[in-house]
Amino acid sequence: MRRLRRTPALRSLVRETHLEPGALIYPLFLCPGEGVRKEISSMPGVFNLSIDEAVKEAESCAELGLGGLLLFGLPAEKDEQATGAWAADGIVQQGLRALKSKRSLDSLVMIADVCLCEYTSHGHCGIVARDGEQYEIENDSSVALLAKAAVSLAQAGADIVAPSDMMDGRVEAMRTALDAASCQNTPILSYAAKFASAFYGPFREAADSAPQFGDRRSYQMDGANLREAMREIDQDIAEGADMILMKPAMPYLDVIREARERYDLPLGAYQVSGEYAMLQAAFAKGWLEPERAMMESLLSIRRAGADFIVTYFAKEAARVLG
Ligand code: PBG
Repeated sequence: MRRLRRTPALRSLVRETHLEPGALIYPLFLCPGEGVRKEISSMPGVFNLSIDEAVKEAESCAELGLGGLLLFGLPAEKDEQATGAWAADGIVQQGLRALKSKRSLDSLVMIADVCLCEYTSHGHCGIVARDGEQYEIENDSSVALLAKAAVSLAQAGADIVAPSDMMDGRVEAMRTALDAASCQNTPILSYAAKFASAFYGPFREAADSAPQFGDRRSYQMDGANLREAMREIDQDIAEGADMILMKPAMPYLDVIREARERYDLPLGAYQVSGEYAMLQAAFAKGWLEPERAMMESLLSIRRAGADFIVTYFAKEAARVLG
């Protein structure tokens, strides 16, 4: 076996899996204000950005040849109905209008995350019905608002809408609402198999979206269930999903592989905030070689079968790929 490992040229010739900047998507966290660039303490190098700063960030992403951006928003105000998620002048809607007005950013696919958790006062991904100490995340009333949010984001210019809430029936409701609003050309990238994961911790700081009570286990998936993940994907495809996103990535590579073997839709994986944070923590301690560990982590996700990767390393990785 070692004959083909002897030189870099030989190794390059027989390499089976490749990374490219065009298959990397960089998440951006938009916040109100001007000139705001606030680093997230658990995610070195990742910032909350006001729209003017986000445009600059996007320009450097386009220069690096990234495939696209995934947009999240931190609204000025939160309420029980998640108004900021579906309002025509919501923070991501405003951001999309600014980003889509720049021809220099045409090479980036603008993907809008669709969820309520950044916009609800309680931080859950849906509408909460309370009965004393008991509470429930309502499915259908949440789906109605999510569909409204998807339309409003598409109308603001999103190239793709990406529901991450894990309510049942949201893809069908969004497809119907988008079509009715003349957004029949907007594809849906469904976070079909999203597990209730401890690895979202740093994101909740970045997006200010930690649930104020309880957890997300009544809507996000149990990490033990691979077969159920396939049923989630089946349903989303039947409801009209155009693309599928798996999340988290590294702790669920087997699930990505299984999905790749079963489905022919474009398949992405999200290397989430905690995956990024744990690698960064090890880099800061000098315990891992940053460049090699970063590239190996991304390669593992590609090798498992993801066509594209949402990652906070997108810019760094694109620099390495040159
Ligand atoms: C919104 C959403 C979350 C992430 C993406 N969309 C947080 C959550 O479900 O709690 C996590 C992304 C990351 O950790 O990087 N529902």
